[in-house]
Amino acid sequence: MFRLRRTTFRARTLLLLGALLAVVYICSDHKTIHLKEEVKKIGCRTKAVTRHNSTVQSWRKCEKNESAADSKGFRFLSGVIKNFLYYHHCRHFPMLLDVPDKCGGADDSAEVFLLLVIKSSPVNYERRELLRKTWAKERLHNGVWIRRIFISGTMENGLEKERLNKLLELEQREYSDILQWDFDESFFNLTLKQVLFLEWMERNCAQVHFMLNGDDDVFANTDNIVEYLQSLKDNNGSKHLFIGNLITNAKPNRSLGSKYFIPFQLYPSQKYPSYCGGGGFLLSVHTALVIYNMSQSIDLFPIDDVYMGMCLAKAGLAPDLHIGVRTLTFHIPSSKIDQYDPCYYKDMLLVHRFLPRDTYIMWQRVHEPGLKCVKS
Ligand SMILES: *[C@@H]1O[C@H](CO)[C@@H](O)[C@H](O)[C@H]1NC(C)=O
Ligand SMILES: *[C@@H]1O[C@H](CO)[C@@H](O)[C@H](O)[C@H]1NC(C)=O
Ligand SMILES: *[C@@H]1O[C@H](CO)[C@@H](O)[C@H](O)[C@H]1NC(C)=O
Ligand SMILES: *[C@@H]1O[C@H](CO)[C@@H](O)[C@H](O)[C@H]1NC(C)=O
Ligand SMILES: *[C@@H]1O[C@H](CO)[C@@H](O)[C@H](O)[C@H]1NC(C)=O
Ligand SMILES: *[C@@H]1O[C@H](CO)[C@@H](O)[C@H](O)[C@H]1NC(C)=O
Repeated sequence: MFRLRRTTFRARTLLLLGALLAVVYICSDHKTIHLKEEVKKIGCRTKAVTRHNSTVQSWRKCEKNESAADSKGFRFLSGVIKNFLYYHHCRHFPMLLDVPDKCGGADDSAEVFLLLVIKSSPVNYERRELLRKTWAKERLHNGVWIRRIFISGTMENGLEKERLNKLLELEQREYSDILQWDFDESFFNLTLKQVLFLEWMERNCAQVHFMLNGDDDVFANTDNIVEYLQSLKDNNGSKHLFIGNLITNAKPNRSLGSKYFIPFQLYPSQKYPSYCGGGGFLLSVHTALVIYNMSQSIDLFPIDDVYMGMCLAKAGLAPDLHIGVRTLTFHIPSSKIDQYDPCYYKDMLLVHRFLPRDTYIMWQRVHEPGLKCVKS
């Protein structure tokens, strides 16, 4: 099936020459820099890019819910939680940066096998740069396409906010890989970011097969991920899949000082549903669409990975464990052993918390042709 697809691509390359001319014609009133990029970008697609203008939609600012302050014990809550309660009904924010054709348009989006969806805040420029040239590189692997998107909000105020927005805009001009919405980037707004992404995905990439959803500080062996997903013989993305570092029987944290503190008014139950650690998990497009559907009738919750678990539970679907995803702890057996021995990472799918330089080295090392590892 994959070989067949590759041949199709080759045939389409010829078609493209024609298409390119058309694009050059269509785009001729755009800035040259744009034109060059469009041409480069559609190098593997069949369709000329259609421009939607979701970035300039008019919209009404979502109002603070003052009556949230009337709930019992509100005044004892921290500023962050108060803020969450005031604004968590707000689900629609204008897009500042969009790449509607990331998956090749509605009809072509099945050509993307794996979409990498990476949560990244505007300041993390170095991490994005690094990911673009390592594991998140857009490429054909094992006959199928990998594409990348960073999802982001805004930060700071005034001039600093403008500067950071400009940064993303410049990156977008060069790479076309950023979705940015005009909401405050914060830990408690991560769920909002996920839901906004799912909404975008339903509109623009509903035919891709699988997605990796994760942080910008993980090391993901995307080659292994593709091969693993291809090995699922009975699932091409059209059935349920949600795997990662499975967390079961977790309890909401009720101690006021904790980063994860959740007051009773937000979550009265004593136990969270099962979920996968948000550092990185894999899901089929089928499951992503189900989660999006469920999310429309579940209030936003401050902790984004738990929220995914809530949506799955409501749909009667279970998240599952994959041993190759280590987002909480990854213990190297002995302190005498090099903890960055590439052999530990060669068979992994994803490991949390890597410095950019370590990711860079590791990505090169696991690809060294001469790398010899003893199978454990
Ligand atoms: C694009 O946005 C502008 C300004 O909001 C609007 O006037 C125009 O009709 C929009 N174009 C399309 C194709 O939606
Ligand atoms: C505002 O908060 C109150 C109290 O928590 C709640 O009952 C109401 O549904 C909220 N309104 C909106 C629009 O979310
Ligand atoms: C989430 O973003 C909105 C819009 O910028 C903001 O009003 C709200 O305070 C943010 N919420 C949190 C908990 O940071
Ligand atoms: C995925 O497999 C199903 C059968 O299980 C098939 O109907 C569908 O066309 C396949 N989708 C793609 C995009 O290959
Ligand atoms: C809640 O968070 C505090 C501080 O981070 C931690 O010490 C405590 O063990 C946590 N409790 C639970 C139930 O997770
Ligand atoms: C969710 O899916 C159900 C069943 O397919 C459908 O009837 C419903 O309209 C969907 N809801 C949303 C909000 O998309």
